[in-house]
Amino acid sequence: MRLSAPSLPPRLRRQPRKPGASPQPAPLDQVKEGAVSAVDWVDERTSLTGAARWVMFRKVPRGTNWFYTLGSASMFAFLSQAVTGVFLAMYYDPSVTHAYESARYITNEVFLGEFVRGMHKWGSTVMVVLVFLHMARTFFFGAYKYPRELNWLVGVVLVILTMVMSLTGYLLPFDQRSYWATIVAVNITGTGPVVGPYLADLMRGGAEFGATTLSRFYAIHMLLVPGAIAAMLGAHLYLVAKLGTTAPPWVKPHHSESAVFEERV
Ligand code: HEM
Repeated sequence: MRLSAPSLPPRLRRQPRKPGASPQPAPLDQVKEGAVSAVDWVDERTSLTGAARWVMFRKVPRGTNWFYTLGSASMFAFLSQAVTGVFLAMYYDPSVTHAYESARYITNEVFLGEFVRGMHKWGSTVMVVLVFLHMARTFFFGAYKYPRELNWLVGVVLVILTMVMSLTGYLLPFDQRSYWATIVAVNITGTGPVVGPYLADLMRGGAEFGATTLSRFYAIHMLLVPGAIAAMLGAHLYLVAKLGTTAPPWVKPHHSESAVFEERV
């Protein structure tokens, strides 16, 4: 039995050529047409553009300003860390005998190694600074209040995860500074009430600081925490898209909602 092909919706059907038009479309038009057809093909099967429209085209409060870019800036800092981290992981060896040498090799021998390592190192500082500035912005603009309390809590988890990233990454070059700084950090953790000693043992991977500590820090740094940040970020952005952003505190609410919001699409 032969199955006939389903007919295409009108927008996907080839349009008749206009009289006088050149026989072949210009190469650039062909590329554009191809791209549009590809997007339409995916959209027809997934309806993804509806979701993209829901996330991107929205009303924003009057008075929205540059401080509102700090969240996206934190997100791009995280993405940059993820990309540069993947390249570093291609050469880094998390063993006590080779860690220092592999980090030195990346800086001195690998093509653009010093640049990528520098981006990752300075990027970590940039991310911490941006996350704290973003947190300060949401606090001073009162964005932690109803109905965004849950997003604030998700943010608190994100800031803790960002600090864990910094701490675990600091040990990885395994030079004198990173070694002793991490011992100090683990010892301070051990002085914490009730859970402190257990947490310190968990970080060291036993009573002594050694090979297990390094591989444990590496696994936490490049698998566990980035995965957790990605998941929490998904929840964070979903809540931002669902609830919208808060108007700056100096913008007085009007009676009609349409006066408070302006369309920015
Ligand atoms: C990896 C760290 C983080 C990333 C990538 C991130 C990303 C974002 C983005 C893109 C937005 C929307 C744009 C904006 O308002 O800036 C946002 C909003 C928000 N974030 Fe974060 N965020 C992070 C950490 C935090 C932290 C630490 C807190 C607070 C503890 C927080 C609390 C909030 C709140 C309450 C909003 C809603 C703002 C509003 O309604 O005006 N976020 N975040």
